[in-house]
Amino acid sequence: MIKVAVPITGEEEIAAVREVILSGNFVSGKNVAQFEESFADYIGVSAAAATNSGTAALHLAMAALGIGPGDEVIVPALTFMSTVTSVFHQNAIPVFADIDPDNYCISPADIEKRITARTRAIIPVHLYGNAADMDAIMQLAEKHDLKVIEDCAQAHGTEFAGRRVGSIGHLGAFSFFATKHMTTGEGGLVTSDNNDWIDLIKKIRSHGMVNRDDHHYLGYNYRMNEMAAAIGNVQLRKLEQMNRRRIEISLQILERLEAAPRDWFTVPRLAENVRHTFFWCPLRIINGKAREVVSRLRERDVEVRHRYNEPLYKQKLIRDRSPYPGGCPYTCIPDYTSQDYDKLQLPNVEAIAGNMIGLPNHPALTQADIDRVVETLLALY
Ligand SMILES: Cc1ncc(COP(=O)(O)O)c(C=O)c1O
Repeated sequence: MIKVAVPITGEEEIAAVREVILSGNFVSGKNVAQFEESFADYIGVSAAAATNSGTAALHLAMAALGIGPGDEVIVPALTFMSTVTSVFHQNAIPVFADIDPDNYCISPADIEKRITARTRAIIPVHLYGNAADMDAIMQLAEKHDLKVIEDCAQAHGTEFAGRRVGSIGHLGAFSFFATKHMTTGEGGLVTSDNNDWIDLIKKIRSHGMVNRDDHHYLGYNYRMNEMAAAIGNVQLRKLEQMNRRRIEISLQILERLEAAPRDWFTVPRLAENVRHTFFWCPLRIINGKAREVVSRLRERDVEVRHRYNEPLYKQKLIRDRSPYPGGCPYTCIPDYTSQDYDKLQLPNVEAIAGNMIGLPNHPALTQADIDRVVETLLALY
């Protein structure tokens, strides 16, 4: 079976973890501090706070900005659910926007239509390793005094107009889950040029403590541990090399597919001002048979991604409007009326959800594997 994603880890990561175990210092030590400094440098921001997941990173970003009950946060409707749960975790209200059919990321034109007096923030997701149109999004944010939290969970090293994502919005949130461009097993991190927010995030992630026994904020235990950070430091040193190979493989696959057109898929258009890092090597299936394509490939020992198969507003959590028992945040906001998720129809999301697959493109693939992915796919129909 050619796997769609594998972590690229080995002896160096083992040695780094071994050193932590033998040191007996598992929490809040030099590895976390070094990881934060190196990752901030890599992204091009002044500070970073490491966390135990990307979901925690997003939640902390919301909390540090003071997003609260009844605030509206504009999110894309095609993404992983964590983008949205981070909004609910603050009792705020997700407002879904459509995507741009060319890059599959949130559409600035549709964001603008959804801005109200309650809007506080936008979370663009750099989906599949691509980049949302950050110029247009930052212009909207400035015009309407909104904060922008970039969800970079799928975009480590992606660039928009020459800048790394995670350095363009007010805050950036990353995930180091096992299948990402780089991993810490589980893990996450927040980036920003605003050191005050990062300092606050470091307190909230650690029980809201300012000292060992002084709790000033509503906190959580969202800390990254030393073993994860030790792996992260090794992985970060390899990230650019892994990204270059990931990009090379993805471009080779997509160019070969483009040169052998079929009436049942389209190859994505790539923007000139974006360095796409291909978390997914995305292919749009246009014959309505994505499920069949996925299972036929699997029968032929090629694993592919097939996720976000319906717009998020169709998920039970959203439709039922009851993320917490008692229906909060909706029932807790006295004059709350907006967001009729049942009636919502975002045409581009509806057309694309369920029809995207991600082909194997990880750096451990051999040329023979790549050939087999392309040939197997082209021979399907
Ligand atoms: C777009 C997006 N946001 C957030 C997350 C959450 O990250 P984590 O799984 O580390 O909590 C993911 C994870 O896969 C993601 O893909």
